[in-house]
Amino acid sequence: MAVLKVRKYGDPTLRRRALPIEEVTPEIRQTIADMTETMYDEVGIGLAAPQVGVALRLIVVGDEDGKGVRALVNPVIVEQSGEATAEEGCLSIPGVFAPVTRAAWVRLEARDADGAPVEIAARGLRARVLQHELDHLDGVLFIDRLDPVTRDRIKRKIKKEGLREDAARHAFAL
Ligand code: NI
Repeated sequence: MAVLKVRKYGDPTLRRRALPIEEVTPEIRQTIADMTETMYDEVGIGLAAPQVGVALRLIVVGDEDGKGVRALVNPVIVEQSGEATAEEGCLSIPGVFAPVTRAAWVRLEARDADGAPVEIAARGLRARVLQHELDHLDGVLFIDRLDPVTRDRIKRKIKKEGLREDAARHAFAL
């Protein structure tokens, strides 16, 4: 396994729409293993393949009890409800945190690391993490979901001061 370099805001891979995975090959399994190690190294609780420069529809997230990691291939939200607002950060935009409004509950369909179909229902933090990571697969960053005034303020700040690389290790970065 290897710790991969996390792409930062401004990297074009973060803005691409990732492609579906046709088959879970040994190469994909290696990517999953590397992404898992990278997520632990960055102290994140979720990571999407485009964040490590791989434009495929693949995410890893901490599992329900926080003890392991789950890989989801080609995840799709098939049902959602409610609304919840909470502060988010992103490993690709270190040092930036802002409250984001998302669905409070989601149901997902995906494939696991063996290519078998899986279904996940989640609420709370886990629902938030899943939605954040799925956004990455469509080239969407959490700052895109902020009101225009807040978003422009953050963009101006990044342009002026750059990213705070030292601030990447935060408990809630996805
Ligand atoms: Ni993120």
